[in-house]
Amino acid sequence: MNNGNIVEITNLKKGYDKGKIKALNGIDIQIRKGEFVSIIGPSGSGKSTLLNMIGALDTADDGLITVAGNDLMLKKDLSDFRSKKIGFIFQLHNLIPNLSVLENVIIPMYGNGYKSSHMSKRAMKLLKYVKLEDKAERKPTELSGGERQRVAIARALANNPSIILADEPTGSLDSKNGKMVLERLKELHEKENVTLIMVTHDMNVAAMAERTIEVLDGQVQT
Ligand SMILES: Nc1ncnc2c1ncn2[C@@H]1O[C@H](COP(=O)(O)OP(=O)(O)OP(=O)(O)O)[C@@H](O)[C@H]1O
Ligand SMILES: [Mg+2]
Repeated sequence: MNNGNIVEITNLKKGYDKGKIKALNGIDIQIRKGEFVSIIGPSGSGKSTLLNMIGALDTADDGLITVAGNDLMLKKDLSDFRSKKIGFIFQLHNLIPNLSVLENVIIPMYGNGYKSSHMSKRAMKLLKYVKLEDKAERKPTELSGGERQRVAIARALANNPSIILADEPTGSLDSKNGKMVLERLKELHEKENVTLIMVTHDMNVAAMAERTIEVLDGQVQT
């Protein structure tokens, strides 16, 4: 991680279906540590694919990608990188339905050598942060959409990530709940200097970021 960039992407390519679909077709992006960037573009333009590459959920075919000093093209085991550096917030929150809210927030902390009392305490603190401490013992299915998305924020923060990747975090929410989710994310960026990379269809939401990157047909529009 030289020159203050936490994400360095050069000519990144990713194809699906034996290369017939060029999801990413030569992407170049630099993101500074602590920056809040929104990513916009039409459906199918490659936004989620790009986010998955940055979070090492999938590997690229060609090009260079370095995130928080890790060369993701080396294809070594990146589970440690994923769990300690990255917090994911997915559009459909991906909470585990038969675990309590508290347990959902604890899950990413497993395997990091913490005592269970420490993990519970930290998870409660995060639930307090998203104003859900009174719902800790409920199941996700007993919560509203906005509350579930706030649990997803708490879970994304479990391991104190330096980067939060959010894919349409407000996509399924009404404006009031969407606003609450956004305020929490913005505050994290402002107070904790977390790097926030957020995909959105909503131009008002995109405008909250310091910079907007537009993706079209797997390339950055300039
Ligand atoms: N697992 C996959 N297998 C095959 N093709 C895929 C796969 N994932 C994505 N694609 C294709 O890659 C392209 C980019 O998809 P991607 O999900 O990145 O788009 P997106 O910009 O996130 O769209 P949306 O706004 O609808 O979420 C699309 O043409 C899509 O159909
Ligand atoms: Mg998508």
